[in-house]
Amino acid sequence: MISTPQDRRGFFATATVLIQGAIGAAVAFLMGAAVVAPVFGRRRESWLPAGNLDDLFDNEPTPVAVRVVREDGYTHVVDRQVVFLVRNGPQVTALSSTCTHLGCRVSWDAAAQVLKCPCHGGVFDRTGAVKAGPPPGPLAAIPTRVEGDRVLVEL
Ligand code: FES
Repeated sequence: MISTPQDRRGFFATATVLIQGAIGAAVAFLMGAAVVAPVFGRRRESWLPAGNLDDLFDNEPTPVAVRVVREDGYTHVVDRQVVFLVRNGPQVTALSSTCTHLGCRVSWDAAAQVLKCPCHGGVFDRTGAVKAGPPPGPLAAIPTRVEGDRVLVEL
């Protein structure tokens, strides 16, 4: 069988279109998977252990560092968030340590019995309410749950 230049040109044109189509489909699949996978990915448990009930003093905010693992694309990123646990008998509440003014980290001043922000003098009481300074709102309340002796926070 003798092939003509027109046959060869047709074959190469068809092969080129098929190869381009395959590459385009592969790229579209990978990009689509990268966008859609986080949405349908396995949901992480958001209740995290924050401490033990016996380690907390009554009515005194105690800072604890909570290890938060979140998915970032196909990698896992570990963050540490500091929250204040405030025990009131068997109940525990949790407050964010992030000042609502510009995001500095507040700390508990046991002598003055307030949470103070070092940046611009913001002062909060043990419930997170603003007592003085520029913060526009209270410290964020974080949902908590007590299971036996364990205190869990939802982050
Ligand atoms: Fe806390 Fe400004 S960041 S008072």
